[in-house]
Amino acid sequence: MSPSTKKYDLVVAANRLPVDRVEGPDGEVTWRTSPGGLVTAMESVMKGSDGAWVGWAGEAGEAPEPFTADGIRLRPVGLSDAEVAHYYEGFANDTLWPIYHDVIVNATFHRYWFSAYERVNRRFAEAVCEVAAKGATVWVHDYQLQLVPAMVREQRPDVRIGWFNHIPFPPVELFAQLPWRRRVLEGLLGADYLGFQRVADAQNFVRACRQLLGLPTRADVVSVSRDDDARRVRASAVPISIDFKGLDELARQPETEARAKEIRESLGNPETLLLGVDRLDYTKGIGHRIKAYGELLEEDQVAPPREVFVQVATPSRERVAAYRDLRLEIEGEVGRLNGEYSRIGAQAIQYLHHSYPRPEMAALFLAADVLVVTPLRDGMNLVAKEYVTCRHDGGGALVLSEFAGAFHELHQAFICNPHDIEGLKQTIMAAIVTPEKEKRRKMKAMRRRVADHDVQRWAARFLENLEHAPERPERSTSEREADEAHATADRRARELHHARGPRGRH
Ligand code: ADP
Ligand code: F6P
Repeated sequence: MSPSTKKYDLVVAANRLPVDRVEGPDGEVTWRTSPGGLVTAMESVMKGSDGAWVGWAGEAGEAPEPFTADGIRLRPVGLSDAEVAHYYEGFANDTLWPIYHDVIVNATFHRYWFSAYERVNRRFAEAVCEVAAKGATVWVHDYQLQLVPAMVREQRPDVRIGWFNHIPFPPVELFAQLPWRRRVLEGLLGADYLGFQRVADAQNFVRACRQLLGLPTRADVVSVSRDDDARRVRASAVPISIDFKGLDELARQPETEARAKEIRESLGNPETLLLGVDRLDYTKGIGHRIKAYGELLEEDQVAPPREVFVQVATPSRERVAAYRDLRLEIEGEVGRLNGEYSRIGAQAIQYLHHSYPRPEMAALFLAADVLVVTPLRDGMNLVAKEYVTCRHDGGGALVLSEFAGAFHELHQAFICNPHDIEGLKQTIMAAIVTPEKEKRRKMKAMRRRVADHDVQRWAARFLENLEHAPERPERSTSEREADEAHATADRRARELHHARGPRGRH
């Protein structure tokens, strides 16, 4: 059978393929790893399986022919210029993204954006049905493809359909703003199982079905109609992770260790190297972090070259106005602080607007004494887990926002509320000055957590939930304990917010 007619027992559909097509000025085509956590996680899952990945190649135009990259069979979906603008930059990233991230910036609503979203979701569903073998498992990803589950079910009742949300699912009060809220919920209810990062996300979804669609719900299960024998869909938390073993091995390589040393030397061997690594996205709280660091510089609590801050800000969604504005704001502020506090040979903040190969990222993590992760809202934040994984030497400290999904697992981090600038400053200073022994204790516990809950375990749990849905699969004692710990962290986060209000003190 030729690869283009072959059918697959596992089909993954995500907005992006794991590689983006890049055409150079002379027409030469190269493929480069796509940005973001979804690709980081799913690439390692798919490498070991005989499955197909349906997705967009990252450039407007006709879909390239299906091909194989790094052992993964890829089935590209084409998007026209207008569809990139209306479906991807518009509805996905200027309507859904703000609503699903606490409306940090206002959401924009256009009916023609939703039409494009519907049309592109239909195209993805058709591509999935084309490559799925009879009875296949179809795993749909993220907010860009919420209509796909119902569209696939319409054509292929024989397949098993799961969907995983890499970002938060909003409380019903925010979700209700969406003019197409019914369509989105009905689209998702085409799945057999829906996976979310946090317990609260799954609960928000179930509540939205009850309140906005009037559907019967029981614990984490929604009935798709009021009939007694209605199909039932389960929604629960299954937090994503990373390839601990692969990254740990990379970080231990002599080349990575040598490069980490070289990075520190080139920065003047600071006593403390602080690092931020984020897509340049307004959800990541980069501005809050830089404001706090700027005040620490002003108060002389930190000063280069004793302390140096490196901010890697990966280019992202650069044609969306809110992202362009953010870039101007961040670069303006970094320039102002460097003008004020740098000296010749001693820069206060190093700002890098680039993507790097994985070995370079591992070396950066290994070199950093403190990683500062301050999202205002984030589904998980894999960067936090990557940092912990790279610190095989047991060193380093993690400052982590309570609004990142990772907070629910990495309890031993230096926890902060990024809206509370005074508190954030104190937390950064605590991460710098806490005795080494105490920091090592924290790092050890966090490493154990990530090692035990790696991406393979995440994928296995998701697929097991999908297989048994709407029932819960039998879980071992340690799995049940992990679920309970997660639910407790979720409850604790909500109690924390009740106690001091969502914005904290300034
Ligand atoms: P998101 O999915 O919102 O981008 P995550 O923190 O979950 O956020 O995942 C980001 C992923 O992208 C991580 O695997 C991280 O290592 C990678 N990454 C971030 N910045 C860069 C960069 N400048 N170069 C290469 N990889 C990067
Ligand atoms: O997890 C959220 C997400 O949109 C993913 O789908 C993707 O991994 C990442 O952020 C990067 O976003 P984009 O594909 O828009 O560059």
